[in-house]
Amino acid sequence: MTHDLDLTAPDAEPDERVIEAALRPRTLDEVVGQQRVRDQLGLVLEAARLRERAPDHVLLSGPPGLGKTTLAMIIAAEVGVPLRLTSGPALTHAGDLAAILSGLNHGDVLFVDEIHRMSRAAEEMLYLAMEDFRVDVVIGKGPGATAIPLEIPPFTMVGATTRAGLLPGPLRDRFGFTGHLEFYDVHELDRIVHRSAGLLGVPITPEGAAEIASRSRGTPRIANRLLRRVRDYAQVRADGTVTLEVAHAALDLYEVDQLGLDRLDRAVLDALCRRFGGGPVGLSTLAVAVGEERETVEEVAEPFLVRQGFLARTPRGRVATAAAWRHLGLTAPATGEPTLFEE
Ligand SMILES: Nc1ncnc2c1ncn2[C@@H]1O[C@H](COP(=O)(O)OP(=O)(O)OP(=O)(O)O)[C@@H](O)[C@H]1O
Ligand SMILES: [Mg+2]
Repeated sequence: MTHDLDLTAPDAEPDERVIEAALRPRTLDEVVGQQRVRDQLGLVLEAARLRERAPDHVLLSGPPGLGKTTLAMIIAAEVGVPLRLTSGPALTHAGDLAAILSGLNHGDVLFVDEIHRMSRAAEEMLYLAMEDFRVDVVIGKGPGATAIPLEIPPFTMVGATTRAGLLPGPLRDRFGFTGHLEFYDVHELDRIVHRSAGLLGVPITPEGAAEIASRSRGTPRIANRLLRRVRDYAQVRADGTVTLEVAHAALDLYEVDQLGLDRLDRAVLDALCRRFGGGPVGLSTLAVAVGEERETVEEVAEPFLVRQGFLARTPRGRVATAAAWRHLGLTAPATGEPTLFEE
């Protein structure tokens, strides 16, 4: 029996989504960790407040589940305006964006999630809107087409992306501030687990919380999700309290290993080592081998594996490090460059 637990995808279950919303920090002060981004963003917001202007456009980048949407919501809340929400894939035509922009009120915060997946046409319209608070609405087609400039009220654009590198330079340059979210350390995750347990009313011991934190892949969303799964286990198979033993048993059941690697992480390493002799292997080939989209492997699994020192991205392809072989309990083959990726 396999227990498939997709740890990084946004929550699919409606009630899970409600819980995730309930656990979201609502102010900058409630945000755990990310000290640097928090300080920088706090300053941007405070300065705008003093000048009585809409804050500069903000770009938030980082792997899934680290708090980009949370910060976007906080920006709107701190400015005291509603958050208008859309996403790159929803903006296939310039007209989609024009409709949203022309509906903005003075000072609104417009959040565009997955901004790197916006269409080219929408992107070009966005340049102008962000810079001059203007859009050109094109009427008609062909040589007779005319562009009618339309003023839009000053607004704050907040973009989120898991792939800052994919954003065209001109778009990146129009953001006055870019916040790079980093994976969280175990102490920060520990605080998040305690905070969430408190909000959910789950009794938890310090050891139980530490165990969940250390297996959360540096990611608050995963910490919260593991907490919920461990709580299920505690309620069904124990007395309801999340202890070290309960956390252990539950996380083993869900195939989350000691270092927090989940099924996809291990599948990637496993394919890399067992099927491709440790690489180098191209991303597309690797993705096919684990039956996932290229993007999922690249944006969801790889950042953590790279950070943990299990995988290296080289010009010739993905390579497993000595630590990866060890983690899988395998012996790295003796090649011409066996120590190249040793720490
Ligand atoms: N700094 C934090 N402190 C406490 N909880 C946090 C923090 N950051 C994120 N979370 C929790 O993690 C969950 C996921 O965060 P969020 O949705 O903001 O991630 P994201 O970066 O937008 O992910 P995605 O790229 O998948 O959209 C939130 O519901 C929130 O409860
Ligand atoms: Mg998000």
